[in-house]
Parts: sequence; structure tokens; C-alpha cells
Amino acid sequence: MMAGYLVIAIDGPAASGKGTLARRLAEHFGLDHLDTGLTYRAVAKALLDAGLPLDDEAEAQKVALAVDLAKLDRDVLSTHEVGEAASRIAVMPSVRRALVEKQREFARRAPGAVLDGRDIGTVVCPDADVKLYITATAPVRADRRWREILAGGGQAEYADILADVERRDARDMSRTDSPLKPAPDAHLLDTSEMDIETAFLTARAFVEKELARRSKA
Ligand code: C5P
Repeated sequence: MMAGYLVIAIDGPAASGKGTLARRLAEHFGLDHLDTGLTYRAVAKALLDAGLPLDDEAEAQKVALAVDLAKLDRDVLSTHEVGEAASRIAVMPSVRRALVEKQREFARRAPGAVLDGRDIGTVVCPDADVKLYITATAPVRADRRWREILAGGGQAEYADILADVERRDARDMSRTDSPLKPAPDAHLLDTSEMDIETAFLTARAFVEKELARRSKA
């Protein structure tokens, strides 16, 4: 279904379900999708691969300016180590500026887009047509991540994953530049006790309401 130019901003902490939701909404409304976490991960991975330190902002900015959104490879970027490194370089203002510029350019292209991340509704696309803030308790998110790892044949301790989730939340929520928080006009969706289908139907209803409002205007 084509919706006309439309931008949907989705924010939330790690393993809240926002990525799956973003993909499904993009598919349903015929929009492009950008997982902005991958842009921070791409910078972190390039630094790790080059053996460069994660606290050299000038180096990280150079890498950020060279990120190509068309070449983000989820498979190589989705490791735990890269995610952890990404949240460390994500505190650097010049890295954020470089990546936010690319993310905004992506959002400007027709037919519009769904972007998911931590600062989409607050910083990247403050004028987004629909903003969603997806959350779930830390134990629920850690449990989801843990099951994903086991289902993929990996091994992990639930307690370690929970500690990681909590550390990442604290870092993302407490940084000075673009901390993770709901935009004042975001719809809040707590998925702690909600399956993905119900979350999708709820989010879709928010978007449809916006489209109906537009068609009347
Ligand atoms: O969502 P994902 O786990 O891939 O994000 C990795 C890290 O990138 C996050 O922990 C966060 O620190 C950072 N990030 C960000 N702003 C975004 C997306 C991700 O700071 N819009």
C-alpha cells in the first residue's frame, strides 16, 4: 500500500522490538526503511577492523563521513561486540552530526521512510508524521535477546545479557548529545506483554489515523 510521502520515526532501547516493527510498517506502507543503529555500528566496525581506538573522535568522525548507507550489511554489523562499540562512539557529537546528516537525506527521498533508532523523533526527524516510542522492561528485552542467541545456535548467560542491556540503556539515556528519550509527541508502546503482531497492529492504527487526518485536511 502506497501512502504518499510519509516519515515514520521509531525510537526505543535495544531489543524493544522496534526494528521488526519498523520493517513491517515500511513493507505495509510501501516506504523505505533505515535502521540507523547500523550507521553507528558501521563506524564502530571500521574502527575495530583498523585497530583504531574507540575514543579518538577525529578518527571516528572521518569514518562517519565516509559511511555509505547503501552498503550497510546487517549480517556483519549485528554482533554483540560491534553493538557495544557502537554505543561508545555514539556519544561523540561530530560522529552524530555526520551520521544524522545522511539519515535526514535518506528520510527526504520519496516515497518517505521509516527510520528507527534512539533520536529519530527528537533530533533526526523532529517533523516526522508519526512518532513511536517502543519500550519493554529490561528483563523482557534481555530474555528476547537471550532466546534469539540460543535459537541461532549460540551460547549465552541470561544474567550477562541483562547486564549488557542495562549498561547500554544507561549509556544511551544519559549521554549529553541526543540521549534516548521519547519525543513529547510520540505514541508510547510498551511491548513487555505484547506479541509482535499486536504491536504491529497497534502501530499501524496510529499511522492510519494520521493518513485519515490528512485525507480530510
Ligand atoms: O540499535 P542498535 O543496537 O543497532 O544501536 C547500536 C548503538 O548505536 C546504540 O546502543 C546507540 O548507542 C547507537 N545509536 C544511536 N542513535 C541511533 C541509533 C543507534 O545513538 N539513532
